Amino acid sequence: MKNILEAPFMVEMIRTTTNMYNHGWDERNGGNISLLLDECQVKEYLDIDKILRSIPTGFSAPELEGKYFLVTGTGKYFKNVQYAPDVNLGLVRLTDGGETAELLWGYTDGGKFTSEFPAHMMSHVARLKVNPENRVVMHCHPANLLAMTYVHTLDEREFTRTLWQMCTECIVVFPDGVNVLPWMLCGTNEIGEATAEKMLTARLVVWSLHGIYGAGKDLDETFGLIETAEKAAEIYMKIAHLPRVNTITDDMMHQLEQRFGVKARDSYLS
Ligand code: 13P
Ligand code: ZN
Repeated sequence: MKNILEAPFMVEMIRTTTNMYNHGWDERNGGNISLLLDECQVKEYLDIDKILRSIPTGFSAPELEGKYFLVTGTGKYFKNVQYAPDVNLGLVRLTDGGETAELLWGYTDGGKFTSEFPAHMMSHVARLKVNPENRVVMHCHPANLLAMTYVHTLDEREFTRTLWQMCTECIVVFPDGVNVLPWMLCGTNEIGEATAEKMLTARLVVWSLHGIYGAGKDLDETFGLIETAEKAAEIYMKIAHLPRVNTITDDMMHQLEQRFGVKARDSYLS
């Protein structure tokens, strides 16, 4: 059996959590990540018949029966993942129609998966319907996106258009735009269901006054998606109080669609 700490998915998870902490997106225990793995990937590193603990999830997700996830632990600090991955991360397999998570590795201090597990798993179900290549759901608290939800309308079209206008390549990176949830109690199945619903039409879902969710095919791509939206929000927060002299027009965005072969969300451009 190979050393799981050297598995490419583990190395990438450790690098990503560290990088997110260094970006200031994950203060204290803020943020969580789940990464979908194939059984054949897991088998190289673990005896998949050796279940350490069975943990109830509190929801059902039959679509994820038998699927494996590497998930950050609840209450754990992203800054510490690199020093003690086995304490701060866990590898689980869902069974009982998603109602039970079988722990195969990690959470060695007796911990468990993130409190946002419902939002993560339900979002995986939603994104896999749209794109079977989707493997990552990522949540964090980037300051400028969060700040924006205090001063900008939460209308999804308006929110998206503002972000698109802030950097030329935003529309290329997230042509589906950004969906927005009003403030809701975090850690619940309700916010999980609402997030998953929003994930059907966009890979970015803002949680007003809280943070953002991103989904993608790998950790790098999902990180880059949030990074791009956060950069746009940063520019917005720098200029929102100043008179706007120039902007990226809808005509320019249509040119970007053509040049990069992307299609902006229906009716979001004039
Ligand atoms: P966890 O520590 O349970 O992952 O929660 C962090 C968080 O960001 C909640 O939204
Ligand atoms: Zn959070």
